[in-house]
Amino acid sequence: MKLSPSLLFATLTLSAFTTPASAADSTSNNAASDTEALYQTHCAACHHPQRLGGLGPALLPESLGRIRPKQAQEVILHGRAATQMPAFADRITDNQASQLAAYLFQPAAVTPQWTDEDIRASHIIHFPKSGLGDKPVFDADLMNLFIVVESGDHHATLLDGDAFKPIHRFKTRYALHGGPKFSPDGRYVYFASRDGWISQFDIYNLKTVAEIRVGLNTRNLALSADGKWVMVANYLPQNLVLLNADRLSPLKTFPVSNREQGSRVSAVYTAPQRNSFIAAMKDIRELWEIRYDQPAFPVRKITTEDYLDDFFFDQDYRHLIGASRSGESGQVIDLESGATIATLNLPGMPHLGSGISWETEQGPLMMTPHLKEGALSIINMKDWSLVKTLPTLGPGFFTRSHDGSPYIWVDVFFGPNKDKLHVIDKETLEIIATLAPEPGKTAAHVEFTKDGRFALVSLWEDNGALIVYDALTLKEVTRLPMSKPSGKYNVYNKTHYVRGTSH
Ligand code: HEC
Repeated sequence: MKLSPSLLFATLTLSAFTTPASAADSTSNNAASDTEALYQTHCAACHHPQRLGGLGPALLPESLGRIRPKQAQEVILHGRAATQMPAFADRITDNQASQLAAYLFQPAAVTPQWTDEDIRASHIIHFPKSGLGDKPVFDADLMNLFIVVESGDHHATLLDGDAFKPIHRFKTRYALHGGPKFSPDGRYVYFASRDGWISQFDIYNLKTVAEIRVGLNTRNLALSADGKWVMVANYLPQNLVLLNADRLSPLKTFPVSNREQGSRVSAVYTAPQRNSFIAAMKDIRELWEIRYDQPAFPVRKITTEDYLDDFFFDQDYRHLIGASRSGESGQVIDLESGATIATLNLPGMPHLGSGISWETEQGPLMMTPHLKEGALSIINMKDWSLVKTLPTLGPGFFTRSHDGSPYIWVDVFFGPNKDKLHVIDKETLEIIATLAPEPGKTAAHVEFTKDGRFALVSLWEDNGALIVYDALTLKEVTRLPMSKPSGKYNVYNKTHYVRGTSH
């Protein structure tokens, strides 16, 4: 075998590192290997010898974004109530737990791999298509159903959007990421989890019918407009994975890199009018468009002026509006020509991924919240001019509306007023009401019923709730207890790409 220069270099540096250079180094090496041994003894059985996850979630730095080392230490010592995560306080000391927690936030010595072989081996078909009926096993308007993701205890609820009654509650994979996607007929819903699990749920039969693990750290999934293909965006490995939407059999992986380096994929979305998936890259200045109406799934690479972390499409998917990494501007890319046609001045970290657009007499307008500023930017999409900056009670996370509603609902998720929601008139662009569904509790993420008559709001807490408002009178209609309902998704609004919701 001939060693390539880079491999040779890797071998040399590796042996340099493994030779203890001084006494101090070897002590810290010993401490590190004690922690590693502790991990292998107590944790590997559930979390995988390389921390890739198993019965318990993956414990890589990429996976632990939602907690800090101090919280990890707490979990290790005291476990998590009502889950299979045990308390170790009787077996390991505070100091050991602190070292274990620090260890989890260290990158793995060798970048973990997840190969096509691993993907194939993980595929589970719980129910083949032939084994299940074609009629729903419950009675409700199938287009006015909601899936509510309850991230507090990793469940989802199928909700009747007329009666506001749960039809079925089921376990999901740990930590869902990105919005679930419905098949065009509304029968199936697809979920992606942080740890790379993709699940297909049959709404008619109330069953998870297939699952597959496509990566180690996943951002989101997109479903083609014809319902045939699922595309998944991964951070780890750095790739996109294409699946057959029927039972999730794997078809192809697309490793992501330019000539110099690899890149994480920020997110992937479906552009229905273009019969393509659009993927934005986090570490290279490229945007990829992958056609799904051609058998070879050809990739077109568009060079961009900046990295794209977060983005938004206009209603006909002609333009992509992306936020730059510096968080001070947005760029408008014409997907037809590939050219950047406008730069928007959007200081304060615009959160374009949750922006919305709507029609007005002045033309189509879009609105985006900012993650670092208590303001909403409103932009005219005809000439990309800034129409208005609307001050709010704090930085926001989500904006929502519906063609059937005169109002836009926005939260002020970040900051002391996180229990408030603003309601904004789509014509006058003024705040007409500020609601506090439950003082002191975070209120966020609004979604409308099929006709836009009711707005569903989350109390984003472990002992949270789903609150239904009359979207015209702004009066509360009912509330249902839920475990941190982090998102809700209406079958009609999502499958019809209704203006005012995220796709
Ligand atoms: C019997 C299986 C099991 C063992 C053994 C186990 N864990 Fe866990 N662990 C879990 C499960 C299941 C969860 C997810 C709990 C939940 O639903 O919140 C978890 C969660 C965690 C979390 C929180 C992750 C997050 O994203 O919030 C950390 C940190 C953790 N475990 C560390 C450890 C360490 C360190 C050890 C060894 C000392 C260990 N675990 C041993 C099953 C296990």
